[in-house]
Amino acid sequence: MNSDDMKILAGRTAADALVKSGMKLGLGTGSTAVHVIGRVGELLACGKLRDVAAFPTSFQSLMDCEKWKIPVFTLNSRELEGGLDLTIDGADEVDGENRCVKGGGGALLIEKLAAYASSSFALVADERKLVKSLGMSFPVPVEIIPEARVQAARALEAFGAEVILRAALRKAGPVITEHGNLILDVRFRESADPVVMEDEINRIPGVVENGFFTRLRPVLYAARGDGTVEVRK
Ligand code: 5RP
Repeated sequence: MNSDDMKILAGRTAADALVKSGMKLGLGTGSTAVHVIGRVGELLACGKLRDVAAFPTSFQSLMDCEKWKIPVFTLNSRELEGGLDLTIDGADEVDGENRCVKGGGGALLIEKLAAYASSSFALVADERKLVKSLGMSFPVPVEIIPEARVQAARALEAFGAEVILRAALRKAGPVITEHGNLILDVRFRESADPVVMEDEINRIPGVVENGFFTRLRPVLYAARGDGTVEVRK
């Protein structure tokens, strides 16, 4: 199986196993989460699923929900009241305790809001995302307000990390997030404790959120090249 096939398998398997009628559902962002949204859309269209209220975690996810006619609401709406039953999302890296790094697509702020607002959280990934230590191979995204660019980068470098301002593709200059902010990509040179770093990074002035997700114990649906899916709690 190639990585696209694994993403489809992980996304659809998790949706089939976890999504139930009447749920308030956080729907993640990226090339794996898109298959969760597609499967939820299919199940709604054929009547196997009913009365789902979805909260998309990015503009991309919103457009996918629109395409599949999945009813969407803001987290503050009367339908959701700031809470979700389940969020299913992709990840850039997942360690042995199912802690993860997210934000490769720049949607970490709302992704974290959704995950931390949910009674249960599930990750969908292919086996290439499984790592021993987070943040050393795939950099940890840190969303900052523009005015904090130099100061926050310096503070992050003091953790012994390499820090790069994320550049836009097909636009001159940096990526601007959906909230008008910048992203610093932070690669640790030595293994760092993700639980400590999730809190420490957010203490830096001007940091809005970072891509370590350590306070939840998600269930992981990891697709393997041999066509199997490991469900790891
Ligand atoms: C977006 C994310 C994505 O979930 C993460 O980057 C994984 O994406 P993909 O499934 O395309 O590899 O956090 O902000």
